Parts: sequence; C-alpha cells; structure tokens
Amino acid sequence: MPSFKIWLKRISNKVISDKFSIFSLRLPLMFFTCVALASCGHAEKDTHAGQPLTKRKLVFKQMLRNFEPMGLVVRGRKPYEKDRFLQYAVALQTLSTQPWKYFTADSNYSPTRAKPVVWQKPAEFKQAQQTFIAASAQLVEGAKTGNMDVIRADYGKVTDSCLACHREFRGGPR
Ligand code: HEC
Repeated sequence: MPSFKIWLKRISNKVISDKFSIFSLRLPLMFFTCVALASCGHAEKDTHAGQPLTKRKLVFKQMLRNFEPMGLVVRGRKPYEKDRFLQYAVALQTLSTQPWKYFTADSNYSPTRAKPVVWQKPAEFKQAQQTFIAASAQLVEGAKTGNMDVIRADYGKVTDSCLACHREFRGGPR
C-alpha cells in the first residue's frame, strides 16, 4: 500500500503526462484541420487574373463597416456626433461607386454570392447601383444638416437600396 504522498505524486504525474499527450495530439490535429479548411470554402485563394471577386468583396466589407455604425446612431443605440456621422456618410458615398467595376464579364466564379442575373440583366443591375449611389449622396447632404429626422429618413433610403439590390442580385454562397 503506497503512502498517500506517493499516491498523490503518481496521480499528478499521470495528469501531467495525460495533458502532454493531449497537447501533442491536439496541436498537429489543429494544424491539419486548418490546412484542410484553407483548401476549401472562404479561405480559397482567388487565382483569377486581377482578383475581381476578392476586390469587390473587400469594398462591400468596407461599406458595411461605415454603414453599420450609422445604423446604431439612427436607432438611438449610440450617441449622435455630427462630425463623426458625417465622416461615415462621406466614406460610404466614396465607396458606393467602387464595387461595380469588379463585376467584370469573367468574374462569375466560386465562391461568389452574386446571382447569374447580375450578368444577364446588366441594365437592371446598373439601375440598382444608381439608386444606391444617389441615396448615399443624399445621406451626406442629410448628415450636413445635423437634423436627425432628415438623417433617419435618408439612412432608411440607403438601407432600402442595399436590400433591394441584394434581394434581386445576391444569393446564397456557391
Ligand atoms: C447594386 C447592387 C448592390 C447594392 C446597392 C449593395 N450590394 Fe452588397 N452585394 C451585392 C452583390 C451582388 C454581392 C455579392 C458579391 C459577390 O459575392 O460576388 C454583395 C455582397 C455584399 C456583402 C458581402 C461581402 C462578402 O465578403 O462576401 C456585404 C457585407 C454587402 N454586400 C453589404 C452591402 C451594404 C451594407 C450595402 C449598402 C450600404 C450594399 N451591400 C449595397 C450587391 C449590392
């Protein structure tokens, strides 16, 4: 019958060695999982000339980064600061004209979420862009007034134009 001290030592050694074996197993496992994921889905490398899909997604992400903080202010979740809000609005307006040149004829490839209708109905797609570009410009004018009622209405129009285009021209991942 081993003394309590020796028993305790054995137990803790076992725990430590178990931990190590878990770690030594887990690290390579994590590594291989990452490598496996990188070769499919979102981390897929855009090998197309000029990387139009990667570039337009980047612009959309930047648009969202300026659009969302304004939404928090408009919904009363963040305090309204006139200059800061105007900065977001101007940034969004600047970005509003930028993604469209990356919808080139040869840029309908995986993992795009753009529906084929983007390429089938270019006039309608263009119209949806114009509506959004105009609404973004209007929001800058609204933001200059500092009047939250005006701003809220203008922001609503921008939101509608994003959603209308997504309904028509953006689908699920493929
Ligand atoms: C004229 C059409 C149109 C308008 C307007 C528009 N979008 Fe999009 N958006 C698209 C399309 C098409 C895609 C899919 C792009 C792709 O995957 O190839 C997209 C994708 C996105 C994405 C995903 C990007 C990614 O990483 O996959 C975000 C975020 C986004 N839009 C935000 C917005 C916001 C915010 C607005 C308004 C402020 C907006 N969009 C206005 C057409 C539009």
